[in-house]
Amino acid sequence: MNISETLRKIEGSATAQIFAKAKELEQAGRDIIHLEIGQPDFSPPDIVLEATIQAIREKKTTYTVSRGIEDLRKAIANYYHELYNQSLDYKSEVILTSGAKLAIFASVWTVVNPGDNVIVLNPSWVSYGDIVESLNAEARYLGVDLDFNFDADRLQSLTDDRTKALILNSPSNPTGSVVPMTTLKEIARHCEQNDILLISDEIYSDFVYEGKHNSVMEIEGWRDFALIVNGFSKTFSMTGFRLGYVLGKKEWIDQINKVNQLTASCPVNFAQYGAIVALKEIQVMKDFIQDTMKDRRDFTSQLLNGIGLEFIAPKGAMYAWVRVPSDDSAKFASDLLEAEGVALTPGIAFGPDGEGHVRLCFATSKTIIEEGITRIGRFLGS
Ligand SMILES: Cc1ncc(COP(=O)(O)O)c(C=O)c1O
Repeated sequence: MNISETLRKIEGSATAQIFAKAKELEQAGRDIIHLEIGQPDFSPPDIVLEATIQAIREKKTTYTVSRGIEDLRKAIANYYHELYNQSLDYKSEVILTSGAKLAIFASVWTVVNPGDNVIVLNPSWVSYGDIVESLNAEARYLGVDLDFNFDADRLQSLTDDRTKALILNSPSNPTGSVVPMTTLKEIARHCEQNDILLISDEIYSDFVYEGKHNSVMEIEGWRDFALIVNGFSKTFSMTGFRLGYVLGKKEWIDQINKVNQLTASCPVNFAQYGAIVALKEIQVMKDFIQDTMKDRRDFTSQLLNGIGLEFIAPKGAMYAWVRVPSDDSAKFASDLLEAEGVALTPGIAFGPDGEGHVRLCFATSKTIIEEGITRIGRFLGS
């Protein structure tokens, strides 16, 4: 059978693969603890659900304009004005996409030609490398430590005249690291000087437990070198609404609009009405995250330390990045799933430097976290 060379190279999301295997075992009657997938266990606020249902009743079930409805773009622009005192033109500098993943895809597509390259941090979210490769470009990995420190010479040596973008994600999936402002400025300067688009994926911006989230929007002149990606999936647990967005300069946003028109046509109509209400509720969600998610992070840290795993409490996001006593994280995750029914994502999925680690998502109840870590402890014989 004929299959595209480009797609053949792409293995598919490792999180999805381990999730599928866990589901298979579950169907065969096994009791599985899911700590692999980045799906928060809480629900969107009731008034968001009500607004969405109301929108369906009002037959907001058609296509919308490809950029997303004006009222939602206006609400996003107003929200960022409140946050950073920056005026965004909602007509030209804000665009909705079908999930933040498509926002990243479209942002990369905006600047990359076949044969170009994109700098991806290592470790970082599973999909970045695949997104780049699927556009027939090369993903070049820049190692970062848990404080986002990197080797400036290495960054320079990765950069050439075909380097078109750098993807940064803070707070980070999988490590939970939060980029310090000085490092963010250093990366931004490199991008600006080398005409590289800095794609700043800030989807976990509300999940910071120590210090504060540093946004590219706080850097003067950001529009000239950066696009900011965010969305409704994590803060509001609206993953199934498929709503992400990109903020930035008109010229790039216009290209992203073409990607919308080529792919999903537009974001889901009624979901956008839910999102307008969600933004009004954001403080409630931020308080919830500070309270519940921080508590879960502390609980997870305490239990992981208790079973003797090498681990540093994450400053943000929803993941624990855990060193395991194995140099084959895929085998470790698979053996753990078979033996104890605990699903974790192998670190190798997050880039070559992820080997020897697993990612544990703590956006679930303390009961499940405790059961999962107890079983991991048993598996390790501790
Ligand atoms: C770092 C990061 N960016 C983007 C996304 C995609 O978000 P969405 O579900 O809105 O497409 C995820 C989802 O897990 C993520 O972890």
